[in-house]
Amino acid sequence: MPDFHRVIAIDGPAASGKSSVARELARRLGFVYVNSGAIYRAITWYMLRRGIGPDDGGRIARTVESAQISCRLKNNESRVWIDDVDPTNHLRDDLVNKAVSRVSTVPEVRKIVTEKMRNYARAHDVVIEGRDIGSVVFPHTPGKFYIDASPEVRFRRRVAEGQRDEIAARDRADSSRRASPLTVAPDAQVIDTSHLTIEEVIDKIVERLKLKGLPL
Ligand code: DC
Repeated sequence: MPDFHRVIAIDGPAASGKSSVARELARRLGFVYVNSGAIYRAITWYMLRRGIGPDDGGRIARTVESAQISCRLKNNESRVWIDDVDPTNHLRDDLVNKAVSRVSTVPEVRKIVTEKMRNYARAHDVVIEGRDIGSVVFPHTPGKFYIDASPEVRFRRRVAEGQRDEIAARDRADSSRRASPLTVAPDAQVIDTSHLTIEEVIDKIVERLKLKGLPL
C-alpha cells in the first residue's frame, strides 16, 4: 500500500460493537477514526430528503455523482457534509436505518465512498470501520479485524441504545448483496465481543497487532 498510511480495518455486522471499539482504538493509538457507515447513512438521508426512493438506483447514481460530498475531520474523527449541510443528527433516523442497506448497493455510491476512505488513508493513519474495509477497500492492510457478537447480544445492544433498527434484515441484505458484501476476509482476525468489554476487545486487537510486528 505505497500511498497509504497505516490502516486498521474493523468490519462486522450491525451492533457488533465495532463503532465503540474502532473509535476508542483510534483514540488510544492516536489514529484518525473513520466511520464508513456514516457516509452511507449521510448519502441515504440526502436521497430520502430529495424524495428519491432507496430502490431507484438510476436516480441515486445520478444524484450522488452531482452532490458535493465533503469529508473532513473534527476532533480526529471523520465527519461528512453534503451540499454544505451537516446531516449528523439524522444519521440514525428510522427511515435511514430502513433504507441504508439498499442505497449502499448502488455501485456509484460504493465507488464514491470507497474513494473518500482511501483519501483519508492517504493523509492519515486511520482506524476505519465498515463492512468491506478489509475485503475490498484496503485488501492489502495487515491490520484486519472482523468483530462479531451473537444475534441476541447485538439485538439487546440496539434496544439499549433506544434505537429501532432491524439489524437482522440489514445483516441479511448487507451479506447477500452482489457488490462488496459483508464477509470475513480470509486474512482477518475474528473477535467475538459477546462477552467482552470494549477495553478487552481493544487489548486483544493491540496485542495481535504487536504480535504481527506492526509499528504502533
Ligand atoms: O455501520 P452502520 O451500521 O452504521 O452501516 C450502515 C449501513 O451502511 C450498513 O447496513 C451497510 C452500509 N455499509 C456498507 O455497505 N459498507 C460499509 N463499509 C459500511 C456500511
